[in-house]
Amino acid sequence: MCGIIGYAGKHNPKDILLGGLKALEYRGYDSSGICLKNEKDIQIIKSIGKIKNLEEKINKTDLIDSYVGIGHTRWATHGEANETNAHPHRCGKVTLVHNGIIENAALLKEKLVKKGIKFKSETDTEVGCALINYYYDGDEVKAINEACSEMEGSYAFGILFDDSNKLYAVRKGSPLIVGVGVKENYIASDINAIINYTNKYILLEEGMIAVIDKDSIKIMKGNKEYNYKVLTADISAESRDKQGYDHYMLKEIMEEPILLGKTLKPYIDDLSLIPDLSDYEEVHIVACGSAMYAGLIGKSLLEEKAGVRVLCDVASEYRYKKIIYDRKTLVILVSQSGETADTIAAMKKAKENGIDTLAIVNVKTSTIARETDRQIFIEAGPEIAVATTKAYLLQVSIFSLLAIKAANDLDCLKEVDKLPGLVKSVLDNRENYRKIAEKIYKENDIFFIGRKIDYAICMEGSLKLKEVSYIHSEAYQAGELKHGTISLIDKGIPVFGIITDDDIKDKTISNIEEVKSRGANIFIVSNNKISEYECIVVPKVSDYFQPLLIVPSLQLIAYETAKLRGCDIDKPKNLAKSVTVE
Ligand code: F6R
Repeated sequence: MCGIIGYAGKHNPKDILLGGLKALEYRGYDSSGICLKNEKDIQIIKSIGKIKNLEEKINKTDLIDSYVGIGHTRWATHGEANETNAHPHRCGKVTLVHNGIIENAALLKEKLVKKGIKFKSETDTEVGCALINYYYDGDEVKAINEACSEMEGSYAFGILFDDSNKLYAVRKGSPLIVGVGVKENYIASDINAIINYTNKYILLEEGMIAVIDKDSIKIMKGNKEYNYKVLTADISAESRDKQGYDHYMLKEIMEEPILLGKTLKPYIDDLSLIPDLSDYEEVHIVACGSAMYAGLIGKSLLEEKAGVRVLCDVASEYRYKKIIYDRKTLVILVSQSGETADTIAAMKKAKENGIDTLAIVNVKTSTIARETDRQIFIEAGPEIAVATTKAYLLQVSIFSLLAIKAANDLDCLKEVDKLPGLVKSVLDNRENYRKIAEKIYKENDIFFIGRKIDYAICMEGSLKLKEVSYIHSEAYQAGELKHGTISLIDKGIPVFGIITDDDIKDKTISNIEEVKSRGANIFIVSNNKISEYECIVVPKVSDYFQPLLIVPSLQLIAYETAKLRGCDIDKPKNLAKSVTVE
């Protein structure tokens, strides 16, 4: 979380920093700030809340002439979201922005306080800033190296020194790239922040320090210069447009049919690109949030269809749990961003145990994409809305292929060609989703119930609804409800029943009857019309692909509900898109 942008060049940095921060706002939006600098002066402007507040403040301020600057958008970890805790932070001759968590900040602070250093904020970042300043004796790279050798945890820093005209950057654990322009260079948490200016970039490796001005980029390893490779990003500025939609979330849901075809095509053309799970005795699927829920669908398909033994766990648990690796195991890491701190830690744990790793990932340059043994890329393109939609659907589609291959059910692949059209037909039913949203948007509690794979689908339907509409919602195994939770069912409470699995359809319907007789307002989402109930019916396809047709309808119900409640759909409160702290 937190977004970093930095600029050194021929233009006034203000607009470039603000534009970059807007593109990075998905990483956090509790507060933001910029620092502008020239040979003599430093100017820091900060504001709480969204970037537009910062922009208003900047527009009312007399700005210094400057040629270098840094900016930051914050997702608070240490200390509440106020202006004092907002970045940039400044100590002595050092001003910096930070993404990550300095885990030993308390200890380092104690040491610095004993040396007479005073702190203004509650942040770990100010400690990092003071430490660099403490070691600064005129040699910037040495000061950064010395301070970093004492910091534990994760960090990406963009740093300015009063005595230098250059922009400095260093990272460990948190993402940071160096953008390469003509007579101007950049740093950014991701390429999207600078894509309007350049698609050329350098991946800053762990522990290396970038020293940047408008004409040159030096990458230092210790105190030696390091030869770097300039890469080209394969994205366009247009792919970040809302393209006429009210929200990115809606635009991204509507892209699903096309992206599904694009994602599956290379694997259908050459199925050998999909790993053969029969090489393994056990598979662990590890991820966070929606990516983990995609994994739960994968687990269900792999177990039920192919008899593969699967453990699926949230990465924040998996990384600290005792995991018994006594069978030949493959660990599958699922991640849109490829930068989720807990998922990276799970990947490292698997690697330390000599276990093969496979990533199902969207961002091709991300840490998870670079450090796993094998990768299957989904073709979601940039996903800007904080709540994932298209990336989740594409992750599920890869699990469909893994299961088909593992079960050797290759006949089912014939359905792939018609999937984009079928998903589109589900999305075309938008009016119906709006009507359902009108019936539920004033409620306080909503339940999603289903069994087996349908329960996995419920998990995502429920998460999507609660995170964008702020209505409390729970997913429950339909048969488990009566062991306690059914006491929450009151007259009028909406309960969504997901029914696609023919084998247990009647059982789920019985559970739905149980809540209906207690007054629940039932909505069924199924591949069959179930009489007596208000139903969303999606086309029936093979079990492998059925979740791909149910989920888009739940995504649109969540979207329409949040819209009726006037929520900030693309940036729900307290969230950040890329969770780069544990
Ligand atoms: C929910 C959502 C999150 C992410 C999770 C993992 O809508 O977006 O639950 O799925 O934070 O993120 P990635 O996939 O980037 O590892």
